[in-house]
Amino acid sequence: MSGSDDLKCDMATADDEKEITELLVNNFRAPLGVALNVTNDDVATFLPDMVKTALTSPLSMVTRNEEGKIIAVQLVTVHNRHDEQEEHNWNDEALTEKAAKIAKFLAHMEGDLWKLVPSDVNCLMRFALTFVMPEYQRHGIARRLSSMRLDAAKQLGCQGITTTSVNIKSQKLRLSEGFEVVKEVKYNDWLDENGKVIFDIKDGSDRCIVTFRRL
Ligand SMILES: CC(C)(COP(=O)(O)OP(=O)(O)OC[C@H]1O[C@@H](n2cnc3c(N)ncnc32)[C@H](O)[C@@H]1OP(=O)(O)O)[C@@H](O)C(=O)NCCC(=O)NCCS
Repeated sequence: MSGSDDLKCDMATADDEKEITELLVNNFRAPLGVALNVTNDDVATFLPDMVKTALTSPLSMVTRNEEGKIIAVQLVTVHNRHDEQEEHNWNDEALTEKAAKIAKFLAHMEGDLWKLVPSDVNCLMRFALTFVMPEYQRHGIARRLSSMRLDAAKQLGCQGITTTSVNIKSQKLRLSEGFEVVKEVKYNDWLDENGKVIFDIKDGSDRCIVTFRRL
């Protein structure tokens, strides 16, 4: 494959829910999960709910290969400052121990989001999860997906985009797209009750960042 131009990117719909969920549960392992050695059972306690929620907004995207199989996903959610909504959409009670550790860390990163973004921003598009199958990576698919549906987001009232990047690849991607870091936490500073580092990240990044860009 020489580039992403020959692959089809479409808005994700409820019809794609099963295929996206299976793709992610079987293949998506962000570094936080890798550090904890999570299994399909662990990620199955939150990924399906994330997919379901993201498909309620008309901003999530999928990329299909020549056979029509989904090989990349960008899950997007829309958040309003004045909504009393949960930042995440999974059921905390259902999480496994490892999944709960990830959820707790992400809640720490994103829980004060509205204090991190400019005070005139009341509606945000959030890149909740981006995944490209390994054999299709580094062909510009993630960059292409993040440039799509921006006009649609503006029409929905979104004034900016936010995303949390846990790994070096997505951090480089977001910084190259003009996102600014509004919060960062070093993995060596996130400790368990015994003072031990919880996420021993091996991908070259020493921190997790929350980023923001105006739309
Ligand atoms: C992160 C990810 C989505 C990038 O997808 P991709 O389609 O390969 O990315 P692109 O080809 O569009 O690359 C865009 C930019 O990302 C950065 N990047 C992507 N892969 C990288 C790598 N292996 N090393 C360093 N930077 C990388 C670069 O800045 C790149 O721009 P460049 O090619 O001009 O240097 C993909 O690697 C992935 O799905 N990883 C596993 C899931 C994950 O960790 N997702 C992010 C957390 S939600």
